[in-house]
Amino acid sequence: DIMSVETKLKDVTVNTFFKKKENNEKITMLTAYDCSTAKYFDNAGVDAILVGDSVGMVVLGYESTQHVTMTDMKVFTAAVARGAKRSMIIADMPFMSYHTSVEEAVKNAGELVRAGAYAVKLEGATDYILTVVKRCVESGIPVMGHLGFTPQYLNVLGGYKVQGKSAENTRFILNQARKLQEAGAFSVVLEMVPEESAALISKNLKIATIGIGAGRYTNGQVLVADDILGKFSDFKPKFARRYADLKSVIENAAMGYISDVTTGEFPDESEIFHLSKEEQDALKEIEDNEYNRC
Ligand code: KIV
Repeated sequence: DIMSVETKLKDVTVNTFFKKKENNEKITMLTAYDCSTAKYFDNAGVDAILVGDSVGMVVLGYESTQHVTMTDMKVFTAAVARGAKRSMIIADMPFMSYHTSVEEAVKNAGELVRAGAYAVKLEGATDYILTVVKRCVESGIPVMGHLGFTPQYLNVLGGYKVQGKSAENTRFILNQARKLQEAGAFSVVLEMVPEESAALISKNLKIATIGIGAGRYTNGQVLVADDILGKFSDFKPKFARRYADLKSVIENAAMGYISDVTTGEFPDESEIFHLSKEEQDALKEIEDNEYNRC
């Protein structure tokens, strides 16, 4: 084989995104933040794993994604990269990691790639952001855009609100998406956009759209792991579907453990290490001679 295990390319590449769009096949993406979840999603056959800055809310307990740092993202990206062998790993560039200068942005994108990301995702499409996208792509880093509701702009947008709710606003988002496409982005997330708007935007782009709360006609879908697994329970976004109830599974497991420990049912014979008969006799002798004197 021309490629060693070390240098084996990911099975899912930017070409997969273009091909799937061309063939009208849906692209599947889920977030993950740890090695074992990434491994299971990879085994299940997901196309892409997003190390989303949603990690700040669903794992780290922050109120928004704005608290997530580059250090956080590198740690979680590296963990996911150790678990996912086949799917594409996309790392979110966190709040303020790409806004202060183009140089800083490209350097930070490079650090996420060094941590194990195949591509980075960033929000918005201002002229400045388009320059960042161009420079990343020129440096060999694939970029996914993120339009519609962009969580890092939560306070500027005035809360969790559907975006592109009029024909004019839809045109605005489509223009942003086209600029991202021109700048070299290989795909774009559309978050919380009406289905009709997302459909029109998807139809008028060469690059694949990945929807979250954007209806049925985007080229792919993404959801947050903790939402599909029922692990994050503070609230359930309207667009999320639960496929498991890990909150109950985890609480029941912990209650079972507490009950078994307090009643003495844990640990049992199968969970215990023993001294050999010989060492037990020797230990008895030590106990009798050295500790049973008082
Ligand atoms: O951070 C994240 O999980 C995301 C998805 C919601 C697309 O950006």
